[in-house]
Amino acid sequence: MTDWLNDAVFYEIYPQSFLDSNADGIGDIPGITQKLDYVKGLGCNALWLNPCFDSPFKDAGYDVRDYKKVAARYGTNDDLKALFAAAHARSMHVLLDLVPGHTSEEHAWFRESARPEKNALSGRYIWTDSWIENGDGMPFIGGEAERCATYVLNFFKCQPALNYGYGECRRRWQQPIDSPDALATRDAVWDIMRFWLDAGCDGFRVDMADSLVKNDTPDKAYTVKVWRDLTARLKAHSPEAVMVSEWNHPTQSLRAGFDMDFMLDWQGNGYSWLVRNYDGVTEGEPKNIGKAYFCKHSTTDITKFLDDWLPSYEATRADGLYCLITGNHDTLRISAGLDEAERRLAFATLFTLPGAPFLYYGDEIGMRYQKLPTKEGGYNRTGSRTPMQWDATANLGFSAAAAEKLYLPVDPAPDAPTVAAQERDPRSLLNTVRAILALRHGTPALGARAPFAVEYAQKGRRAFAWRRGDEATGRLLCAVNPGAEACDVPLSAAVQGAPLFTLGDAPAVRGTTLTLPAQSFAVFALA
Ligand code: GLC
Ligand code: CA
Repeated sequence: MTDWLNDAVFYEIYPQSFLDSNADGIGDIPGITQKLDYVKGLGCNALWLNPCFDSPFKDAGYDVRDYKKVAARYGTNDDLKALFAAAHARSMHVLLDLVPGHTSEEHAWFRESARPEKNALSGRYIWTDSWIENGDGMPFIGGEAERCATYVLNFFKCQPALNYGYGECRRRWQQPIDSPDALATRDAVWDIMRFWLDAGCDGFRVDMADSLVKNDTPDKAYTVKVWRDLTARLKAHSPEAVMVSEWNHPTQSLRAGFDMDFMLDWQGNGYSWLVRNYDGVTEGEPKNIGKAYFCKHSTTDITKFLDDWLPSYEATRADGLYCLITGNHDTLRISAGLDEAERRLAFATLFTLPGAPFLYYGDEIGMRYQKLPTKEGGYNRTGSRTPMQWDATANLGFSAAAAEKLYLPVDPAPDAPTVAAQERDPRSLLNTVRAILALRHGTPALGARAPFAVEYAQKGRRAFAWRRGDEATGRLLCAVNPGAEACDVPLSAAVQGAPLFTLGDAPAVRGTTLTLPAQSFAVFALA
């Protein structure tokens, strides 16, 4: 696996909302370039940008109209190339968001494909063979095109599914994955990947990566086959480039050739038990029921997370990285469910577990989830997509446009957190995040690939302790107690000397018993 990933910490940027450099009310690429030193100074040395391509923005840009053209509202292709160059000059890497499963219904391919006369793109999307035919279990649209057929959707109505073929072909109009049309779609996606790699990007976050082949086997054997081909082409062309999948199934995606997979926020999974565990969302309002592991008064223990994460981690650690996130553009902000003290412990844990962590812009200052009407297909995700809060100037430093022209309103609270205020306060969340990430970068045993083992995890007990590293990197013990009471943790071996890092009150060590005060975190050296 590519070397740079071992020390990578990613920062996800929703380009609409990061920094508006030309006062039109919407974030843009030059704005991101201006803030690279801020991101690097935070300890994030890699970026993932949400889609920044030409689009009608019915799904915030996940409905691509032209894959090879930066959306005018974000700037030009040259602006994006300048961002790559500025990032590389700082030893940073940039991943673009590749949306291979569907395009916008306004993409030129789809317009051509929808024509009644047979043409070279007739098979680029999944069309049935009659205006009245259903989608064989997939959502479909009829009555919209002149072509005498219905077509299959991948997500919203505006996102027709590209044709990568079918695992099991049950209807006449379903093609195998090595049919000429399905292979042509694959080539077209590779052409887009190569276009941006040649422009200087360092790889891709891949949207709905598991969705390509329809009627796939339960273990996605056909989709895996398609990705093995595409990731092999990427590695042959750009050996240092990387791919991270939105898949949440590393035993499938890492074996398909992805370097990394995300552990996503799925209701009731291990990640949701760790930091979220909302009881659904009512009318845009997160209903936090206080049961997440990091909630001070929760009774949840770490096994809720480990039972899900650990088997996948162990099965794939030789193949790539299974990555943890503070949140993303699809989740509620982590601050909606955890208060600041709880979040410090959550970040310390997420950033010292294996894998490359992904920090969602604004989480480092504790940006809040906003209750807002939907924007660009965001629905309840909209409240997690508001402008970055830089300082106390107009629009919190996001934009010099009039407030009513902003893409989304900035947090109206008088105490809305900002970067400038937190930079002045050594005890701020921002400076805590910097300290944890500095520890990570300065400690080889905390690298993405350095070994991990559970030291202490007990049903019904709130503390969690884990070991990192080996002889080559040095060995560490990390321990967290998110609860309201002190906890004793029995250790298999004594720690060496004073802690290297702590949050909260200092832990006590007596022989091989570690006492963690309420709401505390500590890292020690091991022999
Ligand atoms: C992914 C994206 C999400 C988008 C959807 C459709 O889940 O993260 O934002 O709406 O795919 O492309
Ligand atoms: Ca702008």
